[in-house]
This record gives sequence, structure tokens and C-alpha cells, in this order.
Amino acid sequence: MSYPLTAAQSLRGDVTVPGDKSISHRAVMFGALADADTHITGFLMGEDCLSTISCFKKMGVSIDVSEKEVVVHGVGLHGLKAPDELLYTGNSGTTTRLLCGILAGQPFSSTVNGDASIQKRPMGRIMKPLREMGADISGKDGNLCPLTIHPAPLHGIHYTMPVASAQLKSAILLAGLFADSPTTVVEPAPSRDHTERMLRGLGAQVVSNGTEITLTPPKALHAVNVEVPGDISSAAYFLVAGLILPDSDIVIRNVGINPTRTGILDALEAMGANIERLNERGTVEPICDLRVRSSHLHGTPICGDMIPRLIDEIPVLAVAAAFAEGETVIRDAQELKVKESNRIATMTAELSKTGADVRETEDGMIIRGDKPLHGANFASYADHRVAMSMAVCALACEGDSSIDDPDCVAISYPTFFETLDALKQKGE
Ligand code: S3P
Repeated sequence: MSYPLTAAQSLRGDVTVPGDKSISHRAVMFGALADADTHITGFLMGEDCLSTISCFKKMGVSIDVSEKEVVVHGVGLHGLKAPDELLYTGNSGTTTRLLCGILAGQPFSSTVNGDASIQKRPMGRIMKPLREMGADISGKDGNLCPLTIHPAPLHGIHYTMPVASAQLKSAILLAGLFADSPTTVVEPAPSRDHTERMLRGLGAQVVSNGTEITLTPPKALHAVNVEVPGDISSAAYFLVAGLILPDSDIVIRNVGINPTRTGILDALEAMGANIERLNERGTVEPICDLRVRSSHLHGTPICGDMIPRLIDEIPVLAVAAAFAEGETVIRDAQELKVKESNRIATMTAELSKTGADVRETEDGMIIRGDKPLHGANFASYADHRVAMSMAVCALACEGDSSIDDPDCVAISYPTFFETLDALKQKGE
């Protein structure tokens, strides 16, 4: 079903974005392994996080979901039960990879699989270090889902990661919970550190020294309630929309601004964006309100250590670049090829439909912006971030557009289109 997207004059108003996806997943997983109940508020009721809940329920964890909160009745580090059926992870790479780290340390066998996109995504990156730890894990063609895991004793390793991936880092650290000695991972560049922060909050010893992180296997994880901040990856769509549409002024409330996630703010500010951080607060995870106003953007290089800090925002950053004066060169972003879609190829194809000057490169894109763009019929490739990025692009295009599969936004932002409409109405 194709969904109409119309251009907008400007966007104005206040929004609260749904809970952070990465933190929501982890709150359920770590809560399940904790020694008491975990009350989670602000949990993201997106399909990916519901996949995580479903997998833990299949392993005997009782989880109550209400509008107000999610309550995970922790079973302790050694309390998970053998699932009767396959653990289905849907579209979620985070569920798939982090879950395997936990499953590697269990005294039962399990099989993990997800949807068509998950079945194409590389799993060798987690299998290699997990095997070094002693895990018995195998996959289709050696690298793909479905993955089968059998019980095996684990020992700690010292592992230098070939890619800056928080999913890989977290899978190793989670297996490390069940190892007989400490585990150290070394990252090529810092990736999101929610796992480290949350495990520390639950009483585990996790020591970070630059890009080196060491976990000592704990005796237990002590349950701590979690208030999930709004997802900066979801806020990014309104940040870019507010910047590229004239006379826009949006306040996005309660956004997580963990420094390992704020590459999008740094990149947009380097492009000339007017974004204010208001009411900074938060303890385990820093939070603020973001106020964004229309700005004249110019191109900037986006590369190096900044990439893992904005990896999920590159699709919408490419949209910003298409409306910015001059050239934006995105480099070192080859990881985009193995996301929910090949986001270098899919964003280049979709932006090109508007008349934008976009070129795909081996590890990124070159975008020459500030040409008038026209509406088009966009494809989402069942990729939520492509769909939302092109919806933002359509706001500033001349004429009407459409998106082929609007429902895929439910992976991370089920009410995205309603919120966008409300901001449009206030902007008229
Ligand atoms: C995530 C890590 C990132 C990110 C994904 C969520 C996480 O993936 O793209 O959306 O919650 O750990 P990689 O670890 O593959 O970079």
C-alpha cells in the first residue's frame, strides 16, 4: 500500500519521540538476567523491541507489558529455560546478535532466526569471537541465520574488534557474563556504550580504558529500574525536517544525548544548524530537550570516528546534505551496506529520484546539494530508516510524493506519520 507524502510550508511545535531502541532492548535482556523485577518506563513499543520481549518470554521470563511500563521479572544469571521453539528475532539485528552472546553461555541448545533482511546480515562477526570463547555456534553457510547454539563452557578472551559495532561488542560482553575469567574487547573507534553503562548500573565490574573494555564475570546482576530516554535516532528526522523547511521551530523533549550517540548533532552543527540543548539532565544516560530552527546548511565531511556515533542517522543526514549548499562527502561508512538494507545503495537510488546530485562510493556517498528537488514515488526496501528519511525529504520537495511501505516505520517509530502531521498542521 503506497502512502501519500506532501510538501510542507514549515514545521512547528513540541514533540516527544519514542524510547531509545538500543536501551529498550538492553533493559529487557539485562532485566531478564537480573535477580529481581525491573520496571521499565518509556520503553519503545516498536516491533524490534517486541521481538526481544518475545524471545525472553520463550525462555521462561515473565514480562508484563502495559501502557505505563514494562515489568521484567528477572530470573537471575542462571535462570533462563530452554525454549520449546525457535527464537524469532524479526527484523532486529540487536536482538539477534546480543541474544547469541547470552545463548552461548546457557546450558541448553537454541536456534535463532529472523526475517528476510536478518537472514542476509553478517553473523560471522559475532560467531568468530564467541567461538574463541569456547561457544558452540554454527550458522547457514558459516555466516548467516539461522544460527544454532549448543551448550559449551566459556572462557574470557582479549578480542580486537575488526569493526566498530556496539552489537558485536555487546554480544562478546554478554557471553563474558558466563565465562570463567574476564573478557576484554578493543574497539577500532568508540561505539554506543549503553551495555557498559547498564551493566555497571546492575553492579557488574566493567572497566573502560579508551577503546578497551574489560568485564569481570559477576556473581549476579542486581535489578535496577530503567527510565528509557527518547531515541536521538528518531529525533533526527525532526531535526533535519526543522532545519530544511523555512520558518520551522520544533522542541523535541526528553532526548538521550549519550556522547556515543550525538554524532548527528555534531555533524548538523558543522553544517550550520541552529540546535539548542535545553534542560540537560540524567544520570546513567544524559538527556535534554532539543530546540531546532530552520537554518542555512552547508556541506561538510562526515568520516572517521564520527561514523559509529551517527551510523543510523546517515540516511537522514544524506537528506540534509541534499538541501545544503556545496558538497557533503560521507566516507568510512561501509557498515551501511549491511544494515536493514544496503543504505548506501538505497538512499542513493531514492534521493536520485528527486533530481538530487548523489553519487554512491565504496564507503559512503558524495552529495552536492541545494538544487530544487521534486517529489517522486519512493521505495522503502522494508527499511524503516529509509522510509522516514524519504518522508522528511518529501516535505521539502516540489510537488507530491509517496512511499511504498509506510508500515515498516513500526520497527522503531510506530507513530511517526501522525507526529509529523501534527507538526505540519502547526506550521501552516
Ligand atoms: C545498535 C548498534 C548499531 C546500530 C543499531 C543498534 C545497538 O549496529 O546500527 O541500530 O543497539 O547496539 P552495529 O552494532 O551493527 O553498528
